[in-house]
Amino acid sequence: MSVHSKLYEGKAKILYATDDPGILLADFKDDATAFNAQKRGSILGKGNINCSISSKLFQQLEAHGIKTHFIDSPAPNQMRVKAVKILPLEVVVRNIAAGSLCQQTGLPLGTVLKQPLVEFYYKNDQLGDPLLTRDRLYLMELATPEQVDIITHLALQINEFLIHFWQKCGITLVDFKLEFGLDSEQQVLLADEISPDTCRLWDAAENDSNRRVLDKDRFRRDLGNVEDAYQEVLQRVLQAVESKN
Ligand code: TMP
Ligand code: ASP
Repeated sequence: MSVHSKLYEGKAKILYATDDPGILLADFKDDATAFNAQKRGSILGKGNINCSISSKLFQQLEAHGIKTHFIDSPAPNQMRVKAVKILPLEVVVRNIAAGSLCQQTGLPLGTVLKQPLVEFYYKNDQLGDPLLTRDRLYLMELATPEQVDIITHLALQINEFLIHFWQKCGITLVDFKLEFGLDSEQQVLLADEISPDTCRLWDAAENDSNRRVLDKDRFRRDLGNVEDAYQEVLQRVLQAVESKN
């Protein structure tokens, strides 16, 4: 497969065209940003780790009947994906209160939610990815009501699967962010990545008073040992995948 022009460079990935217009190559970077890129840094090995974790999770989800953009991973930090039109939405699913939910509602950190919360944010860096209401989402024509219903259903299905998968890794899934795209037949596919950059992952062996964070909050909140945490998550994912087969 020959790789052509750079199509897009985001904060964590570069997308390249390939000789097949239906296939793109995503190159995962070590660069890390937080707070809408106000904080910048690098996490050694992150590109390889996030690509490897995402690839495994997409494969597992596909086997579970969830359609994703994943094709294969030709190198540790590269993923071949189906070309999709990304919907400008960040779909966040929460099981436990953390991050902006605590900041905006006053719910104490660690509150277990009675049912998962699905939220839509406008993927727009200039506006700081604001939280959307459904009416605002329709006003902006970011997705149709039918697409929102499909996405909400998929997000909850993915949550069920991921809670169980991360449990097998000894990890509590607090919350995570998904992105979806439309293929040439307007079918909704899960896209982007699922990794410690896009999930809050807490070590299930620790209790609330001694919480061990294994995700990008280590970078966001300067907790240290970021690379080690990402590496540990990858090792646990690989073990969980192997133990199933
Ligand atoms: P939040 O609590 O800051 O709204 O984040 C919710 C989840 O979404 C958390 O798992 C981190 C993830 N996330 C991203 O993947 N990208 C982002 O830009 C933000 C703000 C959050
Ligand atoms: N990815 C986001 C950014 O830089 C924020 C985050 O993950 O906290 O801007």
